[in-house]
Amino acid sequence: MFQRRSDWVPLLLIFTLTAAGVVVGSDIREIFYSRIRDILDTPPFDQEYSLTSPTKHPVEVKNWGSQLEGKVGQVSGVSVNNFFQPVIFHRGPRSWDARNQLFNNSNYYIRLEDGPIQEDTILILRPEDGSIAESWGKGLFYLPHGITIDHHDNTWVTDIAMHQVLKFSSKDRNVPKLRLGELFVPGSSETQFCKPTSVAIAMSGEIFVADGYCNNRIMKFSHPGKLIRIFPQNEEFLSLLIPHSITLMHSVNLLCVADRENMRVACLDAELCSNMKRSSSSFTIHQPDLGRVFGIASIGNLSYAVNGPTSSHIPIQGFTIDPLGERIVDHWKPLSKDFSNPHDIAISPDGKALYVSEIGPNKVWKFTIDHQPAYEISYRSKHC
Ligand SMILES: *[C@@H]1O[C@H](CO)[C@@H](O)[C@H](O)[C@H]1NC(C)=O
Ligand SMILES: *[C@@H]1O[C@H](CO)[C@@H](O)[C@H](O)[C@H]1NC(C)=O
Repeated sequence: MFQRRSDWVPLLLIFTLTAAGVVVGSDIREIFYSRIRDILDTPPFDQEYSLTSPTKHPVEVKNWGSQLEGKVGQVSGVSVNNFFQPVIFHRGPRSWDARNQLFNNSNYYIRLEDGPIQEDTILILRPEDGSIAESWGKGLFYLPHGITIDHHDNTWVTDIAMHQVLKFSSKDRNVPKLRLGELFVPGSSETQFCKPTSVAIAMSGEIFVADGYCNNRIMKFSHPGKLIRIFPQNEEFLSLLIPHSITLMHSVNLLCVADRENMRVACLDAELCSNMKRSSSSFTIHQPDLGRVFGIASIGNLSYAVNGPTSSHIPIQGFTIDPLGERIVDHWKPLSKDFSNPHDIAISPDGKALYVSEIGPNKVWKFTIDHQPAYEISYRSKHC
């Protein structure tokens, strides 16, 4: 959305001052958002975005990320930071698949003696070619899964061996700013997770965790990490089977879930704004060719998802979903080669790029899309 350089300068200044600790407190956040609102109030586009304009089909950027081949392990997670750089979370020399038993029957990780992964597991990539701009995350993680960069450039990860969710600020990448879950102890109490898969952070700070491979629930926490709610509650019908990835759609107050083994996308009321309660409860989107949905991301009112190996009749591909219309509006895949094992998907906040990560062969794809109204919808909706 920011197409004019002059729009960026004050924002970057505010951002830098905040990062440098010159300006602190909640005021700065207000300045940041109000500046964004100002920019948004003056549409930089000649053409007005129309709700009825056709969704642009994602197109593969050929050879993007080829330099990563051989350098990364299973790329379990991908997100995009506020500088539009894709950030990946990979398992280095470690891998988790059917042949490789890493947990006992009560879901404890059984290879503790191997210690944490001794290479950088988080790589910040250049959007132009996928080369590595920066890396960190050595000696911290045992079995990476999900990664999410929030609106303040904090990095949130889930580690399925640690059974934890960790938050790192962009200033200190050695010590987590917040830890949720009990280290190495799987459980289903209110303070534990069992192989948590994915995190989504609301603009207002609430934390959503997909928990995950064994508990099949979504947990919502306040900004400081106090449990607010567990989805689904007893009276709710929705039952999840491996919620593998989650995404928040602020403009419509929805949390959408890649409900992997149910082969569908489930959306529920995220309850972000009490004054904007949707009357409808949760709903699901399914279609015979959806298969096992591994990753989901969203922008504005649209979601993008990838499936993984399901059966020989179901192609492995990407889907563009209109959750409000409860329908799949487009299918897409790479042109140079087929997907093999997509695991996660992310969208650049400017709505121009889509990234898909795979866990064998281990790689990252870039697709260009043209979905402009990203900032408008997400930042304006902060005020519900
Ligand atoms: C799994 O490992 C944990 C921790 O070592 C142990 O307490 C538990 O009994 C084990 N469960 C099974 C089924 O072996
Ligand atoms: C998204 O959905 C909301 C609620 O239905 C609607 O007000 C808004 O115009 C939609 N925006 C787009 C871009 O479709």
